[in-house]
Amino acid sequence: MRIALVGYGKMGHMIAKACEARGHEVSCTVDLFAQDATCVTSDHAVMVGAVRESGAEAVIEFSHPASALENIRALVPTGIPLVVGTTGWKDSLPEVAQLVALNKTRLLHAANFSVGVNLFYRIVAEAARLVAEFDEYDTAVFESHHNQKVDSPSGTALDIAQRILANMPSKTRVVSDPFDRKPERDELHVASVRVGSVPGTHTVWFDSPADTIELTHTVRTREGLAAGAVRAAEWLASDARGAASGVFTMQDVFDSL
Ligand SMILES: NC(=O)c1ccc[n+]([C@@H]2O[C@H](COP(=O)([O-])OP(=O)(O)OC[C@H]3O[C@@H](n4cnc5c(N)ncnc54)[C@H](O)[C@@H]3O)[C@@H](O)[C@H]2O)c1
Repeated sequence: MRIALVGYGKMGHMIAKACEARGHEVSCTVDLFAQDATCVTSDHAVMVGAVRESGAEAVIEFSHPASALENIRALVPTGIPLVVGTTGWKDSLPEVAQLVALNKTRLLHAANFSVGVNLFYRIVAEAARLVAEFDEYDTAVFESHHNQKVDSPSGTALDIAQRILANMPSKTRVVSDPFDRKPERDELHVASVRVGSVPGTHTVWFDSPADTIELTHTVRTREGLAAGAVRAAEWLASDARGAASGVFTMQDVFDSL
């Protein structure tokens, strides 16, 4: 398959390697600044032209939270299946879903593409369902990431939080930093720290007066994220998806395995 990469930073480079490893061709790489990209531009029309001319059968977008929505708005009308890894634009999901439907195309987004994190989502959901039976447990989420990450809390932490809210009736809403008061009983505190080179750690605490249960997912390398994004592109562009337009998540990929 020919895959275009929009955003050719750390993840973009890793995804290019993952494309090769999985037998795909990178048809073009587009970036605002990266001098080793095949197209360096801030003009969306030029970006779209480069992607179309490259014969891409799928596009993978890992850029910057401030750029993602504009990139999505420009790329969806091409009708080429689009995988979005950039986080921080989820509030605009209804608008994006409308645009995808209007263009009868397919978009898959995920705050985290790794197999391990998607397993972790399911483990957390089941744990929350079990712990919810016991009133004495309180719950919180903690995440740590490298000091170059611009959004906070991480999209993954928010996805974890949604799974807790869905399975634990005592928690009804997320509160996150800056946070300088006691949490209400129904508030799920999601806390973040940014330090050094940490690729990504997420911990869920279930805490009672007698003990603590901690569930932790630790990223060792980002290669799992890159491979997962390529796997998502394969799934989205596969013939089986040909007829179905819409917005998908990694959950759909896992459900179909
Ligand atoms: N979903 C996941 O699994 C996952 C995993 C890691 C990172 N991320 C997210 O992906 C994004 C990129 O991460 P990274 O580590 O590669 O960052 P990075 O800073 O190394 O690279 C981002 C690149 O995007 C480029 N860029 C910015 N705006 C652009 C635009 N409008 N068009 C084209 N290129 C543009 C930048 O010039 C830069 O080269 C971040 O938002 C991060 O949070 C998601």
